[in-house]
Amino acid sequence: MSQSNLNPTPQIVILDAGGQYCHLEARKVRDLGVYAAVFPSETPAAEIAFAKGIVISGGPSSVYDPGSPTVDPAIFARGQPVLGICYGQQLMAHALGGQVRPGEKGEYGLATLDLDDTTDPLFAGLSGRQQIWMSHRDVVDAVPEGFAVVGRTETCAVAAIAAPQRRLYGLQFHPEVVHTVRGLEFLSNFVFRVCGCQKDWDPRHRVPLIEQEIRDCVGQRSVFFFVSGGVDSTVAFTLSTRALGQDRVRGVYVDTGLMREGETDLVRQMPGLAIEHAEEQFLGALAGVTDPEQKRHIIGEEFVRVQERVIESRRLLDENWILGQGTIYPDTIESGGNDKAAVIKTHHNRVAGIQKLMECGRIVEPLRSFYKDEVREIGRELGLPAQLLDRHPFPGPGLAIRCLCSDFDAPVRATPEGSIIPVHSVGVQGDSRSYAPVLAIDSLDHARATALINRLSGVNRVIAPVQLKAPLSEMLVRACSMTPVRVARLRCADAIVRRVCHDNDYDRRVWQFPVILIPLGTAGAPDSVVLRPVDSVDGMTAQSVLMESPLLEQLSAGILQVEGIAGVFYDLTHKPPGTIEWE
Ligand code: XMP
Repeated sequence: MSQSNLNPTPQIVILDAGGQYCHLEARKVRDLGVYAAVFPSETPAAEIAFAKGIVISGGPSSVYDPGSPTVDPAIFARGQPVLGICYGQQLMAHALGGQVRPGEKGEYGLATLDLDDTTDPLFAGLSGRQQIWMSHRDVVDAVPEGFAVVGRTETCAVAAIAAPQRRLYGLQFHPEVVHTVRGLEFLSNFVFRVCGCQKDWDPRHRVPLIEQEIRDCVGQRSVFFFVSGGVDSTVAFTLSTRALGQDRVRGVYVDTGLMREGETDLVRQMPGLAIEHAEEQFLGALAGVTDPEQKRHIIGEEFVRVQERVIESRRLLDENWILGQGTIYPDTIESGGNDKAAVIKTHHNRVAGIQKLMECGRIVEPLRSFYKDEVREIGRELGLPAQLLDRHPFPGPGLAIRCLCSDFDAPVRATPEGSIIPVHSVGVQGDSRSYAPVLAIDSLDHARATALINRLSGVNRVIAPVQLKAPLSEMLVRACSMTPVRVARLRCADAIVRRVCHDNDYDRRVWQFPVILIPLGTAGAPDSVVLRPVDSVDGMTAQSVLMESPLLEQLSAGILQVEGIAGVFYDLTHKPPGTIEWE
């Protein structure tokens, strides 16, 4: 589906110097009501001459790294306003003859900005002291000719720079991140005061245009979706049904037996959607398997089998059909997404039938220019239930990656720092994933947990007990795989957590809340549950967050009623070094 008919010309172009930041910047500009689109950082200046302003995004590189993102220097000479953020500021300074050098130590997290009293439109109303959020190692050491330093922090002498006559600006901090308290005002000043943009964007008003676009793309054919029950595929399916009529839209939802409680029932209410029951197929293939990577692999393989079966039995390769997908904007840009997104896509793309449809352009992706929040807005406009739209992200392999297994029996081991629990949980250290045991300390103390995990090699998570039925020293990790009984146990604990959190509005306060089953317990109650509420922006990094004691007590009391559960623990690990999921 071409984007050109659907969308206005972007007023703000974000040059992508590092996936996660550029998407957040584009989203924030769109939240201001101005259409922004992401382009590769090297895009020639002439190809983005239409933009009223350009943002060079932040990113993880150093300007001196071989192969690090660059920009066409001509963008600084055309009179278009340019705002460089973090790496973008460094790139601008470097390109215009200033100097960038490695900082003595990196600066990550909150900082205080002192901003000069200036009349410049970018900083209008923002002079003085304020909290910002930094994430950088390199710093600008000398600004290019014609630039003035207008802001600084204790450890960063060049935190905001400006050449107002040329309308070129740089910020070392991240205005797009919520922790920069007045960040949106910086972006708003750039968009409206510096670039003179007009409001032109509201995803809700785009529904009739998207529907027309679907009709144009599909023509006389019909559309088929694999619906996951998630927000994107459900909104795409609903839009297509409205655009083409129920008779011409079909979907299949695969019940893998690894879904959460109530999931399949929610999907069942959608007209035109069939449920393909494959619970026994998935759980059968996973029987006796304990290795996390092997579990993921098996799930991917089984998914491919089901898809092939559906494509064949419904004759979807016949030319009357076109495939619908809930692809959203970050998925269409290569540098976006996370490592696992790539793995999951590979699974789906491996289906020969789907590949064939893609190759001959028989695919409609109604949401390909929208961000997740915008998809939610569209979903609300369509009247879809909040229960569906506001749900937290849930991994494709479902409960399988939250149900830890073990291929050995092993005791809990006491150490001076705490108890070592011999399960294999995944973590990210450096660029690679590692499987390592977990350390249990005796109190819900984030600072201590962080200090320990930084000091100790050989563990990648720290947890603390909330409530136990037996002393930890009497518990044992047992050899076990992902049996239907254990999956049901986890599903039950997860349902309690979701219900209690929803009733207490806690689900709105966290980004995601995995509930994990670990094979740690006693003879009568062989498993335990770990609670993992996290705050995050996009899942790439995450903070473990605390919750109030009464809520935590209510949760653990409910979970301990579940048959077979010996204890409830709380995960105190941030990402990195822990991941959000446990395997
Ligand atoms: P991690 O565990 O890597 O997770 O910190 C980051 C985000 O990705 C989700 N996730 C997955 N999503 N299939 C998915 O569809 C997967 O295999 C998978 N593994 C992790 C996770 O829920 C979090 O939002």
